Amino acid sequence: MKPNVQQIPAATALAAAAAVSGLRLCPGYLDRSRQNELLAALREVLAVAPLFTPRMPVSGRPFTVRMSNCGPLGWVSDVNGYRYAPAHPETGRPWPSIPAILLEAWQELGFYPHPPEACLINFYGPAAKMGLHQDRDEQDFDAPVVSLSLGDSCLFRIGGRRRNDPTHSFRLHSGDAVILGGGARLAFHGVDRILPGTSTLLAEGGRFNLTLRRVTRPDSQNIGLSA
Ligand code: SIN
Ligand code: MN
Repeated sequence: MKPNVQQIPAATALAAAAAVSGLRLCPGYLDRSRQNELLAALREVLAVAPLFTPRMPVSGRPFTVRMSNCGPLGWVSDVNGYRYAPAHPETGRPWPSIPAILLEAWQELGFYPHPPEACLINFYGPAAKMGLHQDRDEQDFDAPVVSLSLGDSCLFRIGGRRRNDPTHSFRLHSGDAVILGGGARLAFHGVDRILPGTSTLLAEGGRFNLTLRRVTRPDSQNIGLSA
């Protein structure tokens, strides 16, 4: 099928994909009706596991991004550090299960034979951003991180495995998928800024990003990783 204009990656995204080995991009992976389907599933998750404000280790400074999770494990951060935990830090309830539409995306995009164990849900209001970081709180770096975006576009930045490696930035739009696998699994990445008003998907505006992760190694039995 001939891709429509929105599915042709911008030159900046192509440059990043060429420069960062293992970075895969699927612009327009979810069409508008699948985005609405995912959004409806996400709203159900958030009704059980509301967004919370994570805090930086040690300083306790709040993130500008609000978060929640679904899956057996969820990523949390507070003064005690970053970690995966089986329950919501405020409600104490287990995270809801990962919706089928996300499991399908993992199967289609992840090329990994075991299911994801965590899906981090990030919500960015108009002023939120995320500094350059690596996703390295998992035990299994053979599995990719599969990321889906909904709502306003953002300026995404990605570099190499060292903090000072050169970086590339490009726009991610609602429905786009990014896969960090292979050489890109430990690439530094972050979100410079949100581009408010670029999508009509979310009535409240802003951007959701969902990242599916494998946390434990498949041969390991220790699913409860809370510190
Ligand atoms: C993340 O690194 O957890 C989120 C990346 C994004 O918002 O696209
Ligand atoms: Mn990340």
